[in-house]
Amino acid sequence: MAELPLSAPVGVVGAGTMGSGIAQVALVAGHQVRLYDVLDGAAARGVEQIHARLDRLVAKGTLSDAQARAAKERLTAVGSLDALSDCGLVIEAVVEQLPAKRELFAALEKVCADDTILATNTSTISVTAIAAGLRRPERVTGMHFFNPAPLMALVEVPAGATTDPTVAEIVAATAAAWGKTPVRCASTPGFVANRIARPFYGEAMQVLEERGTDCATIDAVLREAGGFPMGPFELADLVGNDVNLAVGRSVWEQTFGDPRYAPFVAQQQVVDAGWLGRKAGRGWYAYDGGDRPAPHTAEPRPAPERVTYHGGFAACYGLLDRIAAAGVSVERYETGPAGTRSGAGEFEPGESAYGIELPGGGLVLETVGEPATVDGDAVALDWVGDPATASRVCLAPGDACEPATLDDAIGMFQAAGLAVSVIDDVPGLIVARTICMLVNEAVDLVARGEAAAADVDTAMRLGTGYPRGPLEWGDRIGSAIVAEILSTLARTYPSGRYRPSPQLIRAAHTGRPLRGL
Ligand SMILES: NC(=O)c1ccc[n+]([C@@H]2O[C@H](COP(=O)([O-])OP(=O)(O)OC[C@H]3O[C@@H](n4cnc5c(N)ncnc54)[C@H](O)[C@@H]3O)[C@@H](O)[C@H]2O)c1
Repeated sequence: MAELPLSAPVGVVGAGTMGSGIAQVALVAGHQVRLYDVLDGAAARGVEQIHARLDRLVAKGTLSDAQARAAKERLTAVGSLDALSDCGLVIEAVVEQLPAKRELFAALEKVCADDTILATNTSTISVTAIAAGLRRPERVTGMHFFNPAPLMALVEVPAGATTDPTVAEIVAATAAAWGKTPVRCASTPGFVANRIARPFYGEAMQVLEERGTDCATIDAVLREAGGFPMGPFELADLVGNDVNLAVGRSVWEQTFGDPRYAPFVAQQQVVDAGWLGRKAGRGWYAYDGGDRPAPHTAEPRPAPERVTYHGGFAACYGLLDRIAAAGVSVERYETGPAGTRSGAGEFEPGESAYGIELPGGGLVLETVGEPATVDGDAVALDWVGDPATASRVCLAPGDACEPATLDDAIGMFQAAGLAVSVIDDVPGLIVARTICMLVNEAVDLVARGEAAAADVDTAMRLGTGYPRGPLEWGDRIGSAIVAEILSTLARTYPSGRYRPSPQLIRAAHTGRPLRGL
C-alpha cells in the first residue's frame, strides 16, 4: 500500500512535546506541515522549537542549510482548524483525555475532506472510543510515536474496531516513508510496548514491596545482569512517576482490574508525596546533586578451587565458561535442559543434585521460581541476559544456607569478573521473574491476534530498548522453563498475576518456537 504522497499537507493538532516532534518528522520527510494548538501562541512556540532543532541538525551536519531553509518554509503555525481543510493526514497530539479528543475529531470531521486520514497519537485511550460517534469512524487510526519523536524509530499503528485496514496500511507505509519502523497492532490497552513493559516496573515493585532488596540494587541487577539499558526505578523517574502510574492504572482499569496489571501501593505513595521523578528533583532517587545510593555489592571473597556442575542451568549456562576461564576447575555433568548440553560429561545415575555443587556440598541453583530455602544449603542464582557480557549476578541464599556456601558462591562469580548482589530469598529473584513476565505478556498479545510475533519483538527493542525481543528471549531460554517459573510463581502468589498464557504452556509441551506462534 502506498504512503501518503509528499504533495499532501500534514496537519498536527497540539504543539506540545509530541506534536512539535511529530511535525518535525513529517516536515523533514518533505511534507507541508500545518501546526495548530488551542492555546494562544503555543503553535508559534512549537514552530520556534522546530526551527531551533533544525538549526542544530544543520550544525551537526545531518541536514544541509538549504534543506533546513526549505523545511522551515513548509511549516506554518495556523490559528484555526479550518486551515487544516486541505490536509491528507491530520495527527492529533492533544491532552490525553477522551472528551477533548472526541470533540476535536468531531470538529476535524467537519473541516476535512472525506478522504483525509485522522490519526491519534494517544498512548492509552482506545482508538475505537475516540472514533465512536463520527460520521466516518473508519478513517480514524492510531499513529503512536515515542518520545522524542524525531529520534525514536518506533511508530505503533493501532487500529480500532472500526478502522478501515487500508487506512492503517497507509499510515504504516507513511511512517516507514518518514524513516520510522511501523508496527501494526490492534487498539487494546497499552497497545504493544506500553502493555508488555508493564511487568518491567511491576516485578521491581513486587520485589521492593517484599523487601527483597532496594531500588538501587534492583536497577543495577536489571542493567548489569539483565542487560536492560536502564533499571525500572531510574526509568520511572525519567518518564515521571505520575505519568508511569497513570499508564499502569489505565491498562489495569481498561482490562477490568486484571491482577496482572494492578499498580502497587509503593507507586501511589511516591506520587502522593510529590516525588514525581527527575522533573520534581526527587523520585525513587533524589536529584539534588548528591551521589546515587550504591547497589548492594558483596565484598571480595576467595574463589573455591574446584566445583561440580550437575546440569540445570539455562539462562546462565555460559557463566560456567567464565568461571572455568578464571581458573576454577569446573567438572561438568550435563543434565541440564535440552539445548544447554555441551556433551562434556555424563550424568551419573542416582545422583540427584543439580546446579553447581560447591566444595562444602552447598549448591548454586539457577532459579526455577522456588525460593532457595526449599533446597536446604543452597543459593539461588538469578538469570543473566547475556552470560558473555553480564557484569553482575544476583544471588539469594536460602534460610538454611551455610555461610561458607554463600562465601564460595560469591567468590566463584567474583573470580569470573562479576559484581555480586546478594538479596533476600524472593522467588524468581529479579531478572528471571521480569523476563518470564515479559515473555508471557508478549505470547498472550500474539495469541489474541493483537500483533504479529516479529512486530512484538521489534516494538520492544525499538520502543523500550530491551536487548532482545521477549519472544526471542523466550525461545533462547526455552518456553518450558519460562512456563515452569510462571507456574511456580502463580502457586506462590495465587492472585492471578503470574498465570501462564495457555499458548505458552502449549509451546512448552510441543517445543514450538514462540516466534512461530
Ligand atoms: N509525552 C510523551 O512521552 C508521549 C508519548 C507518546 C504519546 N503521547 C501522547 O501524545 C499526546 C500529547 O502529549 P504531549 O506530551 O505532547 O502533551 P503536551 O502537554 O506537551 O502537549 C499537548 C498540547 O495540546 C494542546 N491542546 C490541548 N487541548 C487541545 C485541543 N483541544 N486542541 C488543540 N490543542 C490542544 C495543549 O495546549 C498543549 O500544547 C497525548 O495524547 C499523550 O498521551 C505522549
